[in-house]
Amino acid sequence: MDNSAYRNAYERSLTHAPDFWLDAAKKVTWSTAPERALDSGNAPLYRWFPDGVLNTSFNALDRHVLAGRGDQDALIYDSAVLHSQRRYTYAELTELVAKFAGVLKGQGVGKGDRVVIYMPMIPEAVIAMLATARLGAVHSVVFGGFAPKELAARIRDAEPAVVVTSSGGIEPSRRVEYLPAVAEALELAGVPDLRVVVKDRDGFKATAADFHGWLDWDDEMAAASPAAPVDVNSTDPLYILYTSGTTGIPKGVVRDNGGHAVALSWTMENIYDIGPGDVLWTASDVGWVVGHSYITYGPLLAGATTVLYEGKPVGTPDAGAFWRVIEDHKVNVLFTAPTALRAIRKADPGAELLADYDISSLKTLFVAGERLDTDTYHWADQALDVPVVDHWWQTETGWAICANPRGLDALPIKPGSPSVPMPGFNLSIVDGNGDAVEPGEEGNIVLRLPLPPGTLTTLWGDDARYISSYLEAFKGCYATGDSGYQDADGYVFVMGRTDDVINVAGHRLSTGSMEQVLGQHPAVAECAVIGVADPLKGQRASGYVVLKSGVHMDEGKLAQELIAMVRRDIGPVADFKNVKVVDALPKTRSGKILRKTMRQLVDGEEYVTPSTIEDPEVLERLVAVLRPTSAAD
Ligand code: COA
Ligand code: AMP
Repeated sequence: MDNSAYRNAYERSLTHAPDFWLDAAKKVTWSTAPERALDSGNAPLYRWFPDGVLNTSFNALDRHVLAGRGDQDALIYDSAVLHSQRRYTYAELTELVAKFAGVLKGQGVGKGDRVVIYMPMIPEAVIAMLATARLGAVHSVVFGGFAPKELAARIRDAEPAVVVTSSGGIEPSRRVEYLPAVAEALELAGVPDLRVVVKDRDGFKATAADFHGWLDWDDEMAAASPAAPVDVNSTDPLYILYTSGTTGIPKGVVRDNGGHAVALSWTMENIYDIGPGDVLWTASDVGWVVGHSYITYGPLLAGATTVLYEGKPVGTPDAGAFWRVIEDHKVNVLFTAPTALRAIRKADPGAELLADYDISSLKTLFVAGERLDTDTYHWADQALDVPVVDHWWQTETGWAICANPRGLDALPIKPGSPSVPMPGFNLSIVDGNGDAVEPGEEGNIVLRLPLPPGTLTTLWGDDARYISSYLEAFKGCYATGDSGYQDADGYVFVMGRTDDVINVAGHRLSTGSMEQVLGQHPAVAECAVIGVADPLKGQRASGYVVLKSGVHMDEGKLAQELIAMVRRDIGPVADFKNVKVVDALPKTRSGKILRKTMRQLVDGEEYVTPSTIEDPEVLERLVAVLRPTSAAD
């Protein structure tokens, strides 16, 4: 690997960072090209391409039309739940985005204003994102599986000028009505009169007309004039994406315009090996960072075709759904979460449904969102006979910290590892004091500042929280919150979070926020929610509650109530279905609940009783209840 293209690029990105990224910036069309790469004047808050001026929506759309590719497919919408497909060329998508930008402009949205987008996987979600960006405004997309309270928290923080939504989402088992949820969220956020634009869909109970003052997408589009792209500074925000933190309050990750466009363009070519005319299908949701980067922005910045899939890996209608989409749209690269592969494998262990489809267009399968376990890796590798590439990243970084850069240099794949650090990510593994550990030894994964372009610039409206959450634990470094080790070849193995963030079916959730909900039940004295191993979803949230003294309640009834509360307050996406009553929780002498030890107990792992434990007997009693052999859970 010493003289590999990867090694050269990586070294150069660290030793000659400005040159490396100014070269990469040439892939972007600027109104004013940057001459400076990095502004360190306000460190540790860094800004990329401080003198650059551009419009991200222009880069994703208009410039491909101007280059003569207006007739090429930009977006293919494939709804497995509606059995319908629709293709949008670059020319068509540009026109629709310009028109919807006109609609937003008509509602007073301008540069720097926020637009909250709460939509299912329909083309209008992507159109709304790009239209917001076209005006130099800032979108904040909220995943449809979140409850009104979570939506309200985001509205309160982002203070949008407009909310864009749709009648609802279609889950295999039910239709999810969005409009009552939006109305409730506006009430909760204290802005009941906020302007709402609704894309009506057939088959839902509520329509825009049921809510006073709400606007109908189609009516507004029919009357709108197209709006031109507005120049913004490279450092101006493009979007805010809220993600689970260690507390119940979501963190508004801020992404800039210029660094984002440069970084994603680099990744399309060098990591995914996708260029103009290629087809990338990212089977995720626009509500997650993976959807932002690789359903909407990455493929369109590259002039490729993106597939927007409304459906599941299984059950819509069966475990052959993914293979059908690959065949129908000649997908070159598929990006999904390991949990989706596990779901397919569970339903069709021998991948027999593959025989019904021609997936010869597929070159590579990328996975992220959670660790790719080696069983699933080997299954996918054998079934699909294409490279299966794990890559590791976070909402905060916006693109892969570690990957196998297939366009640059196809490095050997090591099962269980997302391969090697990407350019600009100066990665080390350190102990609790910040000292580097030996190769092979597990520790905290940290990234030396500055982070590369495209990573978070701050948390919305709260530089202090950004610094205290990420930059204070290890001097001069960004703490990823993940632990892992690096082998002698430089391959990184990511083992799990060091905080109470968990990953359920590739969805990032905070156990702290679930604990806050459980704690509100009148019978609950205290509680702990931990992420326990789940063969399908990677992890699942499991709650342990202690009843208030003197309270007696049927455990089944209590569990039902607590499950309903989490669904109501956080949303179905929390997938919170397990509750157990215990007589006490193990704690340290300073009162910290020993969640890690509890998780090790439940998962049947080795554990060491911490020396700081307050009452060892509490733990011993839990062993009897929680250890898998005797567990009732
Ligand atoms: N709107 C409303 N509800 C939603 C939703 C949405 N956008 N997405 C999920 N939900 C609901 C589901 O209907 C389900 O509700 P239920 O408890 O009434 O059944 C609940 O949230 C949990 O959903 P999920 O975790 O998706 O479980 P599932 O059993 O429906 O499906 C998988 C399991 C593995 C097939 C599915 O989770 C999956 O495809 N995961 C891939 C995730 C992914 O791509 N993540 C992005 C990171 S790259
Ligand atoms: P999110 O911000 O939702 O993308 O979640 C980020 C977290 O998911 C990371 O901090 C990791 O804990 C986990 N994660 C994402 N991708 C991977 C991967 N490829 N391997 C291991 N963990 C991953």
